[in-house]
Amino acid sequence: MALEAEAKRMVAEFEYTAEDVNKGVKEFIREMEEGLEKQGTMMSQIPTYVTSVPNGTEKGVYLAVDLGGTNFRVCSITLHGNQSFSLQQSKVPVPRTLMEAKTSHELFHFLAKQIEAFLKTHHKDHFEKHRKGSVEEGEFFDLGFTFSFPVNQVGINKGHLMRWTKGFDIQEAIGQDVCGLLQKEIDVLGLPVRVAALVNDTVGTLMARSYTSPGKHKTLIGAIFGTGTNGAYVEKLEKVKKMKAIEEAEGGKANYDSSTGLMVINSEWGSFDNALKVLPNTPYDIDLDRESVNPGIQMFEKRVSGMFLGEILRRALLSLHQHPDEGIALFKDASSHDNDIRSTTTVAEDSALFKQWGIDTSFLSIVEEDQSDHLRITKQTLEKELKIEAASTEDCVAVKMLVHAIGKRAARLSAVALGGVVLSTNKLQEEEMVDIGVDGSLVEYYPGFEEYIREAFREIEGIGEEEKRIRIGLAKDGSGLGAALIALVAHNSDQPL
Ligand code: BGC
Repeated sequence: MALEAEAKRMVAEFEYTAEDVNKGVKEFIREMEEGLEKQGTMMSQIPTYVTSVPNGTEKGVYLAVDLGGTNFRVCSITLHGNQSFSLQQSKVPVPRTLMEAKTSHELFHFLAKQIEAFLKTHHKDHFEKHRKGSVEEGEFFDLGFTFSFPVNQVGINKGHLMRWTKGFDIQEAIGQDVCGLLQKEIDVLGLPVRVAALVNDTVGTLMARSYTSPGKHKTLIGAIFGTGTNGAYVEKLEKVKKMKAIEEAEGGKANYDSSTGLMVINSEWGSFDNALKVLPNTPYDIDLDRESVNPGIQMFEKRVSGMFLGEILRRALLSLHQHPDEGIALFKDASSHDNDIRSTTTVAEDSALFKQWGIDTSFLSIVEEDQSDHLRITKQTLEKELKIEAASTEDCVAVKMLVHAIGKRAARLSAVALGGVVLSTNKLQEEEMVDIGVDGSLVEYYPGFEEYIREAFREIEGIGEEEKRIRIGLAKDGSGLGAALIALVAHNSDQPL
């Protein structure tokens, strides 16, 4: 019982009340507005030069690549023009050494090599024809580059890297045009490919959801709750006050179609409230941040997204394991009673419990879902993934309580971001239904994630019961399709981009 009481005390540290949610939303809206007014703010609110969303009738074959976390994907997408599409893709993990390489060349050369391999396999004819010199530049593939890091975008296929996130760290790349870096390596390999559009995964998700979503309601937000978190949304162009200053700095009016009066904004909400005015802050959050590659940055993301939830949990479990009072401590049962077999809980010396980033977020999903007798599944997962043998049922209950608290807090914080955008754009007043496209391992696999978001929506002043008019739909792998759609827009534009 002593363990349970201590676990309850820790759970209370993760509580994020209705009052907190409302304070969070107010601050979120304030930071959104600040970001639209000037450069250099916490939430970057980056103009994307995408000024309309698709309606499902678009057609053509496009290439798309996606760099944004654990994997690099190359795909070719055929848009059929009737809200449907077909896709061929290849996926490789990004080697850890390249995430922290000395030069950007190492990483971008690797990416170009993957594009080359993909073309050889899936577009052999075009590839061979180009080798023989008979492909005109007009026949080059247009490629949408989904690059899911904060980029100061200055045109549809140009943008300077502001900072790395999600464990990437190649200092030399900061400030460089990432499309230029990729095009250079593509040209070195002599591939018939033109980098036509630069796309954040959230923008891709927004486009993909608009292309495929049923009904007449245009999608308002594309959001990722995966390794990292972020959202892009459709804003009224007149509210993007900093546009003029950006254009002046770039030496003149940027080329984009302003007739729609809209622009998609990449909020980069991962850096919401870096100053920690309203975000919750437990000792585990503090330690995680201090030992991360980017302390003080992406503070919202560090409480919400998949890359970090496992690490928050690990730190909480470790602190409970190392509790000075042995009678309270976790995984310290001298004789745990399980199925009439008495056994001693052991934690292997090389257990992932002792390693930074040792616990994957999928662990949280498994435990959250566990309804088995005596939490047998949790016990097995502790054994398999953390080398903790014979954990007692009481231990497992404590683990589950903490998992639940961390996951639920993440979902409620996600509601702050989504709710903030819904309220600031006034969409509940303007439309009968507000549509949100989401993607990422957390929304897809974490049990109850959407339900916790909805519960928090109902607590937000200005949403309440209207929560029913917010539709959330999975836009699976939207970043590939979305990148293709933006490459298409770029290609079809009369003006040079
Ligand atoms: C990046 C965003 C990205 C998000 C989701 C964040 O770390 O800053 O650009 O959209 O992760 O992948």
